[in-house]
Amino acid sequence: MKYLTIALAKGRVAKKTMDLLAEIGITCDEVNDKETRKLIFSNEELKLKFFLAKADDVPTYVEYGAADIGIVGKDTLLENGRKLYEVIDLNMAKCRMCVAGPASARELLASGKVIRVASKYPNIARNYFHNVRHQTAEIIKLHGSVELAPIVGLSDVIVDIVETGSTLKENGLEVIEEICPCTARMVVNQVSMKMEQERIRDIIGKLKGILS
Ligand code: PRP
Repeated sequence: MKYLTIALAKGRVAKKTMDLLAEIGITCDEVNDKETRKLIFSNEELKLKFFLAKADDVPTYVEYGAADIGIVGKDTLLENGRKLYEVIDLNMAKCRMCVAGPASARELLASGKVIRVASKYPNIARNYFHNVRHQTAEIIKLHGSVELAPIVGLSDVIVDIVETGSTLKENGLEVIEEICPCTARMVVNQVSMKMEQERIRDIIGKLKGILS
């Protein structure tokens, strides 16, 4: 039997996914071993391989078929726009994609003037400002700690995910508009879905069973 390969977004999503998979009898203890520098792990009995990748790279591995299945946030899927089948909403790692900034930015947003937006999600930000708000926006791509941007004057607002809201609060910022809710999703390579239909459908069916 061929191995099925599962790509997991590093961090919170990976830990929660392994807990969920354990409930349907799919285990691989090594994945959660923080000491190891190994990148790929297997469950020989079930003929499964797992690897951890940067969230942003998971859709790429799955689209090219280097992984049959991927587990990654909806935020990353929207930003990357890859050709994949999104098969299950895992209903975990819940957060909201938001426009946030200092309270004073509300007025600027309402005015319809050109606005500077910093984000790790430039495509989502561009789409929202251009196609939903119909407002001219200059989008500035950042790679992390985006909340800094309006504080130091790089941008007027940010587009970022908000989970508990504490990062915004501790930095004197607030949610101004909600773009969409995001949760972790299971995605499948389009060819794998046909070639490994039985095994993949079995995993999907069992996961749906415990999620409902
Ligand atoms: C994410 C996000 C916010 C924060 C939101 O950042 O970009 O900064 O979490 O969480 P909260 O609402 O619970 O405070 P992450 O921790 O991934 O780090 P990064 O900014 O360096 O990418």
